[in-house]
Amino acid sequence: MEAETQGDWVAMVTARAPTNIAVIKYWGKRNQKLILPINSSISITLNPHDLSATTTVAVSPSFTADRLWLNGKEVSIEGDRYQNCLREIRSRATEVTDPKTSRIITKKDWESLHVHIVSKNNFPTAAGLASSAAGFACLVYALAQLMGVRERYKGEISSIARIGSGSACRSLYGGFVEWDMGKDDDGKDSIAIQLAEEKHWEDLVVIIAVVSSRRKETSSTLGMQDSVNTSKLLLHRAKEIVPKVMVEMRKAIKERDFATFARICCADSNQFHATCLDTSPPIFYLNDTSKRIISMVERWNKAEGTPQAAYTFDAGPNAVLFAPDKAKACELLSRLLFYFPPASDKKISSYVVGDVDMLAFKE
Ligand code: ADP
Ligand code: DP6
Ligand code: CO
Repeated sequence: MEAETQGDWVAMVTARAPTNIAVIKYWGKRNQKLILPINSSISITLNPHDLSATTTVAVSPSFTADRLWLNGKEVSIEGDRYQNCLREIRSRATEVTDPKTSRIITKKDWESLHVHIVSKNNFPTAAGLASSAAGFACLVYALAQLMGVRERYKGEISSIARIGSGSACRSLYGGFVEWDMGKDDDGKDSIAIQLAEEKHWEDLVVIIAVVSSRRKETSSTLGMQDSVNTSKLLLHRAKEIVPKVMVEMRKAIKERDFATFARICCADSNQFHATCLDTSPPIFYLNDTSKRIISMVERWNKAEGTPQAAYTFDAGPNAVLFAPDKAKACELLSRLLFYFPPASDKKISSYVVGDVDMLAFKE
């Protein structure tokens, strides 16, 4: 057997992180660089085997630059978001013994080793299903594992994910998660906290209706920047409304009160999209199918006199629907299929993965 040369070895880690769907939306930053929000938010983290990002990070002395492949295509890693995450993780790297080869990688080694990152999302990227949340949570977590980063305080890894994409800080926790906006200028207190584990409200069903898998025209980052600069409604929402509904939403989750949960969730989504419309130039994330889904749920809820289902839309046209239990979820699915029958020439790409049913509608 040949002696191993310096460039022969590779150490790698693969991780998977789920997306999270906000039921009280984060929209707007008070600090762009540190990604500090103008309001707190609450989200539900999906199961990692449902909508998720899978990321492999590898180092080898033969790598000559940091590189990133996203969904099979190489993309630039030069952007501030990636660079900030890499820098923060590298600065915390410790000595690691690679479990496969027993090779020791010292603190000094990490300074010069380049990293190759390969990531894939199992759901549409940049289409309003929080791919940036799953993507950055996964990247930061995988890098931290590879480089032996141990949290010095609870939430340190989540805070590094936050500087990749704000919503990513919530994906490091399962179940129901709050991102407390914090008060400090340095962002130390702008952290994600788990409100309740997933099993706290096991009956709750999440259904994702993919209306369009196309990339959105306005990224969340640029959209919220324009909203902060031009929408008075957004400032009113952040300062006056969100602090109150945060209290109500925390309570609804704690008490598994679906009626209140549904009312706040739908209202918050509609208010968020109203701030998008109040932005100059206006941002349209919802399309006609999205609006028909809203009407369908509203009509059903009104007819029954109490919420049967809830909807929320992130920065994109795709619907995230909630039902209080499996029976209602089945009814909701059959209503969706009735109002949005799959095109006869297209196979409906409907699949049930864990607790999340994913339906693709024709565009
Ligand atoms: P979304 O609504 O999907 O979160 P955003 O506009 O917030 O859309 O963010 C999309 C961006 O997030 C992508 O253009 C890419 O830069 C980044 N991103 C998405 N998925 C990943 C991933 N798996 N790994 C690294 N970065 C990702
Ligand atoms: C509508 O976290 O994608 O999904 O921090 O600029 O990366 P950046 O934005 P991002 O914004 C998410 C906006 C939202 C609401 C939410 O997830 O809370
Ligand atoms: Co995003």
